[in-house]
Amino acid sequence: MPTSNPDISNIMPDGLFIVIEGIDGTGKSTQARRLGEWFTAQGREVVLSREPTDGPWGKKARESGGTGRLSPEDELQLFLNDRQQHVDELIEPSLAAGKVVILDRYYFSTMAYQGARGFDPVEIRRRNEEFAPVPDLLLILDLDVDAALQRIGARGDTANEFEKRENLQRCQEIFLSLRDEPFVRVISTQDGLDEVTLKIRSTVQDSIR
Ligand code: TYD
Repeated sequence: MPTSNPDISNIMPDGLFIVIEGIDGTGKSTQARRLGEWFTAQGREVVLSREPTDGPWGKKARESGGTGRLSPEDELQLFLNDRQQHVDELIEPSLAAGKVVILDRYYFSTMAYQGARGFDPVEIRRRNEEFAPVPDLLLILDLDVDAALQRIGARGDTANEFEKRENLQRCQEIFLSLRDEPFVRVISTQDGLDEVTLKIRSTVQDSIR
């Protein structure tokens, strides 16, 4: 029987929270943008964002990746500060307003990348989930590390690039360790961008029904 006291949840669509993750070179940003356009075409209000953000903490975190000058602890703290601000100022308000929030990287990247720097990924996850909402759907874009290195223009044959390869391999393993969780789907990106876009759409359609 219909309730005589309709609350706001009856007139506002539910927010939807989708995160795209994967190692560098898997095409996350392009796919995040295309997924956003697809939802917009269906009349949904979309918030497309990324981490690290362009805020003060995120800028520092991005720089640290480039220079490697920060200690692992300081670097981890920057990512956590950046995320806290992102959650408070953008993610939670947008979800509460019924929008579709699509993120290019989130705390699973902290598990993977800071995990590869020596932190326990399970502990990183726990610390994040104290303040960061778990997404409705996590899409992990999968690509083998050699193909990813090729796409980002590295050959893996200098010392620096060898290190990069090992690092990406470890990140990849951590991402894939999440594959059996109910909210996670792994999408192969071996095929071209357009095939991946279609695969993502059908995965999203099947998962949010
Ligand atoms: P990336 O999405 O690759 O940005 P850009 O396209 O500008 O290079 O992110 C920058 C780097 O930050 C990437 O190598 C992954 C790393 N990163 C972490 O180490 N921890 C995190 O929590 C996040 C969100 C990103």
